[in-house]
Amino acid sequence: MSFQEQLAEAVAYIQNHLSGQSLKGLVILGSGLGAFADTLKNSVAIDYKNIPHFQKSWVQGHAGRLVVGDVAPGFTIACMQGRFHYYEGHSMETVVFPVRVLRQLGIEFLIVTNAAGGINAAFQPGTLMMIEDHLNLMGDNPLRGENHDVLGPRFPDMSEAYSKTLRALAQQVAEDAHIDLARGVYAGLSGPTYETPAEVRMLRTLGADAVGMSTVPEVIAANHMGVPVLGVSCITNAACGLSDQKLSHQEVMETAEQARQRFTTLLSGVLNQLASQAAGSLSQVGH
Ligand code: HPA
Repeated sequence: MSFQEQLAEAVAYIQNHLSGQSLKGLVILGSGLGAFADTLKNSVAIDYKNIPHFQKSWVQGHAGRLVVGDVAPGFTIACMQGRFHYYEGHSMETVVFPVRVLRQLGIEFLIVTNAAGGINAAFQPGTLMMIEDHLNLMGDNPLRGENHDVLGPRFPDMSEAYSKTLRALAQQVAEDAHIDLARGVYAGLSGPTYETPAEVRMLRTLGADAVGMSTVPEVIAANHMGVPVLGVSCITNAACGLSDQKLSHQEVMETAEQARQRFTTLLSGVLNQLASQAAGSLSQVGH
């Protein structure tokens, strides 16, 4: 079956679970941040395992389902509770397949979130960092191979991988809600090992403020399709070698849980702003 046929089957399956509404945006919820989907109204959850051509496995702490629901009346979004990781052995195409499917269902923005190790010495565990740019150090790229011309160009521009407009919006929401929002560069590595202290020193030299094992593929796929991206990392630990502690997935999950309230406030604020902007532009059309 061709890639486009697979895409069409997944789109049709999800569409059957919707009541005719198109989706305005997609939020990918990282480790420990999945509960955000509970804030959506009139929500419907679809297990990945039932969606044609979605992969069937994910790590602990990820529910593995798509939750579709309303931020406000007429402003329906999808949340991914759990994502496919490159370190699980999936191809890059598999990792970005959901973003491509959701684009066919209408999404006009992508919000990516993740748990990450802090490299910038100013970041305490629990810090929320808005991603300004990334380093793709995964050793692969989801656009490698034949280009899907229907999705986007062969050589996509990456000069604004994280939308300036969405960053300004998030900054404003954070200020209004008195949430400290750090900013920085996210380095994406393949994992699944955490980094060595020498690797963390290298990453710091390269200009990284945070390090993680996700996000970069989905952001590349979104940029390919011309979808603006907002990225937020929850810094769950000091990167290896920057504190005396050994790293554990347990610690990552616990710290993300502690940041949940601030994270939810920030995300809800951004989505509510986008919803009211959309409502505003619709009413302008009506006048
Ligand atoms: N390194 C890589 N990925 C991570 C980390 C880290 O320190 N913390 C959470 N995800």
